[in-house]
Amino acid sequence: MDKSLFFTPEELDRMPVHVAAIMDGNGRWAQSRGLPRVAGHKEGSETFRRAAEFMNDIGVKYFTVYAFSTENWKRPLEEVNAIMGLLEKYLNEAIDSMAEKNIRLRFFGDTSVLPQRLRKLIERTDAISVGQTGLCVNVCLNYGGRQEIARAAALAAEALADGKIDEITADNLSDYMYSAGVPDPELIIRTGNEQRLSNFLLWQCAYSEFYVSDKMWPDIREEDLAMAIKSFMGRKRRFGGL
Ligand code: FPP
Repeated sequence: MDKSLFFTPEELDRMPVHVAAIMDGNGRWAQSRGLPRVAGHKEGSETFRRAAEFMNDIGVKYFTVYAFSTENWKRPLEEVNAIMGLLEKYLNEAIDSMAEKNIRLRFFGDTSVLPQRLRKLIERTDAISVGQTGLCVNVCLNYGGRQEIARAAALAAEALADGKIDEITADNLSDYMYSAGVPDPELIIRTGNEQRLSNFLLWQCAYSEFYVSDKMWPDIREEDLAMAIKSFMGRKRRFGGL
């Protein structure tokens, strides 16, 4: 992909380091075409693959996506199974292309309760990711922002009791999040025209800029992602200062 089709050289110098996406609207995309919701997730998975490649090509370092929330288990079993199946398929494909594209994959969330085949794949992916230096894709799987904060608080309390840290602060609590070591996202994109966080990256989004697209996730193309990033570049970020 020729990145100069989307960005000027000045813009390429100001690329955000970390972009996150709430891939919403798969179900509506399918329903509006008279297709089962699962067809929307399938198309959405393809959009995810293209989006990750785009982020890699334009020099974004971290791309975090909301693939399955702790609340998504409430969906019909058929839909849950279909999403798990798609994750398996796309992880398998990612494993094949990761080394070649220098992409790393990481998982945020409680993956211990996922189907065994998926857990095995996650282990394999983790192993391959060691040593990759390109884009890091963080897949939020069985993830909830509140659950992540509660887990981090428990881990930090343990470290405090063990004398490994002297106090718990806003800085060192970050070390116990799934995202430890990853800078906070500068930009969070949500598709499907909804304006809420839905328990996504609650800790990390303190100063993130939001971009809402009225397009459904499967309709998102490179130019839409570029538009979101350009919108972010045009904003003044003050972090509470003047
Ligand atoms: C939101 O759309 C989407 C999801 C809950 C699932 C996202 C999953 C994928 C894109 C597939 C697998 C992911 C990867 C990383 C390969 P929705 O179903 O809530 O849409 P709606 O609001 O229109 O109902």
